[in-house]
Amino acid sequence: MIRLSLTALRKMKKAQEKIAVLTAYDASFSHALEQAGVEVILVGDSLGMVIQGQESTLPVTVDDMIYHTANVVRGSDKPFVIADMPFMSFANSDQAIANAARLMAEGGAQMVKLEGGAVIADTVEQLTARGIPVCAHLGLLPQSVHRLGGYIVQGREQQAAEELLVDARKLEQAGADMLVLECVPATLAAKVTDDLSIPVIGIGAGQDCDGQVLVLYDMLGLTPGKRPRFSHDFLADTGSIQAALSQYVEDVKSGRFPTVDQQF
Ligand code: KIV
Repeated sequence: MIRLSLTALRKMKKAQEKIAVLTAYDASFSHALEQAGVEVILVGDSLGMVIQGQESTLPVTVDDMIYHTANVVRGSDKPFVIADMPFMSFANSDQAIANAARLMAEGGAQMVKLEGGAVIADTVEQLTARGIPVCAHLGLLPQSVHRLGGYIVQGREQQAAEELLVDARKLEQAGADMLVLECVPATLAAKVTDDLSIPVIGIGAGQDCDGQVLVLYDMLGLTPGKRPRFSHDFLADTGSIQAALSQYVEDVKSGRFPTVDQQF
């Protein structure tokens, strides 16, 4: 079976059909997500926290990402697979090209995701010019947690919101084919989504994004500690993993998730 393509995802944006995205890190969940109708699987470096038990995503290596991406790719046939580029694996363009090539050739990813604004636009241009599809990531950047001073909503002030919109445009111009927006006010996310022609996938970014993503273990209620306000325990509602995944897809598609209480 042929995996979903970027063209198909772009068509979904045009048709205003919501895109259901979840993270996964292994073959079994990859299969379960496919069965539930998830269109895009993100092999997030959140695996550092939810799989490895690290305090942040910073210790995750390119080898870790290749291992988990290859497992995910073996577990399903249809969803589009994105792999995160870990902290400092794209500190310069040469390094980014070498590491992204490994994530695609050894891991089997169809796209790589990089955290950062205009400062990485050159790198995005270098990657896309070589045929490597890029998903940009703006807003709350977990790899910058120490600089940000915590996992805090971004873009609340007018200047920060304007800067984020400029960054988003620059990244699209540099060739990014998708954008993840994390923890920003819903009004800002709606503006960015409307402004860009590439699919914008939100997490804690409100209901007007083209699609939604959650960390799998958060939406199954497995992550210890306080659940983020923008997440929801779908397993508690449904009683089985497969039903929880299907409910998530249904709620994203119908616009029932996220609610106004689950946005900023
Ligand atoms: O690493 C990850 O899972 C992510 C999502 C939070 C978007 O980047």
